[in-house]
Amino acid sequence: MAGAGLAQGYPARPVTMIVPFAAGGPTDVIARIVGDHMSRTMGQQVVIENVAGAGGTTGIIRGAQAAPDGYTLMMGHMGTHGAAPALYPNLKYDPAKSFDPIGLAAGTPIVIVARKDFPAADLKGFLDHLKKNSEKMNQAQAGVGSVSHSTGVLFDSVVGIKPTLVAYRGTGPALNDLMSGQVDFMTDQIVNVAPQITGGNIKAYAIATPERSPALPDVPTTKEAGLPAYEVSAWNAVFAPKGLPADVNAKLVAALRAALADETTRKRLLDLGAVIPDAKGQGPQALQTLVETEVARWTPVLKAAGAVAN
Ligand code: MLT
Repeated sequence: MAGAGLAQGYPARPVTMIVPFAAGGPTDVIARIVGDHMSRTMGQQVVIENVAGAGGTTGIIRGAQAAPDGYTLMMGHMGTHGAAPALYPNLKYDPAKSFDPIGLAAGTPIVIVARKDFPAADLKGFLDHLKKNSEKMNQAQAGVGSVSHSTGVLFDSVVGIKPTLVAYRGTGPALNDLMSGQVDFMTDQIVNVAPQITGGNIKAYAIATPERSPALPDVPTTKEAGLPAYEVSAWNAVFAPKGLPADVNAKLVAALRAALADETTRKRLLDLGAVIPDAKGQGPQALQTLVETEVARWTPVLKAAGAVAN
């Protein structure tokens, strides 16, 4: 009964959504877009709290240990809830057991981007330059286990290079350094880099999806550009700590679904190149299945890429 009582008044105060990376990056952008609409549906502000560190695991640990009362949520993703277990043997949460999955928010194709004065006109030239100058190249990423790290290590393994990995508290700050030429390249989620590619402030050599993105129609796929072995996408999803009262869980699931059905919210996400899950791909069960699949997929991939001590 207590649970039901809680649910009836829920939410009675603002809800915190932990973003486990610095403000301004892809995870932050997606959280603010869906959180904005969820605030309206729930009648209480969804307040974003950026808790960066350790490839996103610091913030997710904080969220996993919060009270399961609906007032702490997390925006996790393919890094924190897919790659992390392979890279952190003593990880203080289990992506498939420590959470109430609320639902997938957005799929995020990965784009290979470089500083705008990088001396290569296309992906082939980019790869040639990387191979000839590997030890001089600086590759940005958002910490071990992040999407930019996992997809970056996979890229390096496919291409056969060992650049210097430069860690940031998110790919928002990393993008600033890419634009100022402090780092040479990175593999990042489309929602972060699309505006800067369109604005000509960074170069995009390819998108690692089978089809081009409507948000970046002139960017070739890796297959078209000659690197078919590199196809990878990420995703961002809303989680709560395990054990929400059933009605609180249902309210959150419904609020996220409403956000993804809202035309303005959809346009904001689509304009950035996000892929919005269809009804079947939304909701707790689809996310639970995705997490289990992704953890199983990324462990051998990262081992093969030499990112995991065997
Ligand atoms: C990552 O995993 O690379 C993060 O999503 C970067 C970020 O959101 O800042």
